Amino acid sequence: MEATEILKMNKQRWEVSAERFFGRTALPEYGPFAFNEEQLKLFGSIKGNKVLDIGCGSGHSLQYMGREGAKELWGLDLCTKQIETARNLLHDQQVEVTLIESPMEENPGLPSNYFDIVYSIYALGWTTNLSLTFANIYSYLKPGGVLIFSWEHPLHDRLKYEEEQSTFIFNKSYVNEGPEYNEGWQNLAVIHHRKLSTYINALIEAGFMIEKVIDDVYLPEEPSENPSRWYSTQKANLVPATFIIKASKK
Ligand SMILES: C[S@@+](CC[C@H](N)C(=O)[O-])C[C@H]1O[C@@H](n2cnc3c(N)ncnc32)[C@H](O)[C@@H]1O
Repeated sequence: MEATEILKMNKQRWEVSAERFFGRTALPEYGPFAFNEEQLKLFGSIKGNKVLDIGCGSGHSLQYMGREGAKELWGLDLCTKQIETARNLLHDQQVEVTLIESPMEENPGLPSNYFDIVYSIYALGWTTNLSLTFANIYSYLKPGGVLIFSWEHPLHDRLKYEEEQSTFIFNKSYVNEGPEYNEGWQNLAVIHHRKLSTYINALIEAGFMIEKVIDDVYLPEEPSENPSRWYSTQKANLVPATFIIKASKK
């Protein structure tokens, strides 16, 4: 399937599903069963920084950045509904807010060597072209600027709960990469499966220096009622649900 077809299909799904995700995965949270920013402190001080959110969704992470003292808030997202929601949410910010509807695979005219921080919370793995996306982000960042992103761990959806046997089975290849109809999206969206090393190597190839790779699991004390849910404590006890990478522009 061509990248343009995938983007069209995924945009259609996001336009109808956006509401379900408003503020669901947003800073200070990094994602399911991951430690949060208050625990990890990856960003350091945000005060006075120009920040860009890739796949900003409903704008809740940008709102967090605003509260933490960012000087400029920029967000990019493929979905019209998300951008409109973010615009409403951020209308009373005291600092400049720029929201752009665009796929992350394209540079919609963002400034180069401009941002102190580019980040992405559970959005970057949607890209149809990882190297191009990292090359774009690298160009937006100032030298010394940082990229922090979280995404679903590539082992997570390889494991499926088998009701009859009351156990998890490893039923998809971790090593075979490429676009896949995503079960979590009832096969109506296409997400590229990539190994963790592919993310790391693509960052290195784009010129980034890797500062931290985190796939630790934070488990609540109470187990999930239903282990067959997409994210369950029982599954998170076996494989991480989320990974986080911090990298910097040399
Ligand atoms: C789980 S949401 C992210 C939530 C958001 N980061 C937050 O902190 O609230 C994923 C977002 O990625 C966006 N997205 C999906 N594919 C994209 C692409 N190719 N380019 C830009 N945004 C994309 C979706 O429209 C959606 O808003």
